[in-house]
Amino acid sequence: MSDTAGRALDIVAYGVVADERPLLEEAFDDRHRLRCLDLVLDRDTVSTAAGCEVVCSSVNDVLDAEVLTALARGGTKLITQRATGYNNIDLTAAREEGLSVARVSSYSPYSVAEFAWALALAVNRRVARSVARTRDFDFRLNGLLGRDFHGRTAGVLGTGKIGTAFARIASGFGMRLLGSDIAQDPACLELGMEYVERDRLFAEADLISLHLPLLPDTHHVVDADALARMKDDAILINTSRGGLIDAQALVETLRAGRLDGVGLDVYEEEAGVFFFDRSMDVMTDDVLARLMTFRNVLVSSHQAYFTRDAVGQIVAATARNVEDHLAGRTGENTLVPPPA
Ligand SMILES: NC(=O)c1ccc[n+]([C@@H]2O[C@H](COP(=O)([O-])OP(=O)(O)OC[C@H]3O[C@@H](n4cnc5c(N)ncnc54)[C@H](O)[C@@H]3O)[C@@H](O)[C@H]2O)c1
Repeated sequence: MSDTAGRALDIVAYGVVADERPLLEEAFDDRHRLRCLDLVLDRDTVSTAAGCEVVCSSVNDVLDAEVLTALARGGTKLITQRATGYNNIDLTAAREEGLSVARVSSYSPYSVAEFAWALALAVNRRVARSVARTRDFDFRLNGLLGRDFHGRTAGVLGTGKIGTAFARIASGFGMRLLGSDIAQDPACLELGMEYVERDRLFAEADLISLHLPLLPDTHHVVDADALARMKDDAILINTSRGGLIDAQALVETLRAGRLDGVGLDVYEEEAGVFFFDRSMDVMTDDVLARLMTFRNVLVSSHQAYFTRDAVGQIVAATARNVEDHLAGRTGENTLVPPPA
């Protein structure tokens, strides 16, 4: 262990929501100087990190080359992201700037998988519409007709940790399982999942749930062509990353009266909107505004991971990343090691 391992560090955390703040403070306050901000870290806000050796980022922060250069100049050495996905960080630029980068490689996959199911069930059984009606003492059933998931086909795109947890629940419902991934998961095979080409999954699944990381390869994996292949009454759920879906193509599909329903916990242009109260602002994103007008679309604000269990694990792993940084250790959470 390095002799500087006991140092107290200045840490700034971005995108901290109120429920998460006490957990972060408890994890860091005794040992380090932590500042929690509810800002998005981007070109406009990067000066707030000046003098902080550790920047603790969130999914919608924009860590592009310009921001990373500014961070390095301001004395930052470690970026530790409080998430599994890291598509918002330019790792090549970080390496060039001599910044090390860590993430939380795994935490409760059940948090996200269970929320994907919450959306799937709510969309299928028209829960939001029903609750809005009964609040107005309208107890009619018109327009609330759903269907059994039992006996129908679930298509799981990405059968890693979260996709597998989703598939287990689908299996519990008695669904036939189709999967698509570059690697077959033994647990999914054991559940009876059949791995197929994406196009076949799109064509045969009644319920499609996305659990892929956002990469150049997977950007807009659900595009106009994929949407055209889907059954007219398919249900599409995205709890992974907004960029997996071409949202404009989705709007066109829904406008044509296709798809039974859609549940979106993520949206490609969510940065600066999700996690904030925009209720008094003019909505300038026409695609999001149009999506919200469809009765069969439910949008939540990137909350799938937001359980006590998952947030506790994320904070604990982030604290370990900081201690590893101090001790000069790397591990499974390391995306860019410190410069040699
Ligand atoms: N909404 C939320 O709150 C939330 C929370 C956590 C994670 N996520 C998202 O969920 C995603 C999945 O998380 P996970 O923990 O299951 O990750 P994981 O790494 O365990 O699984 C990802 C799977 O995708 C597969 N894959 C990668 N590239 C592929 C490609 N080009 N084509 C086909 N398959 C490919 C991998 O083989 C792997 O099986 C994350 O990347 C993140 O974007 C969202």
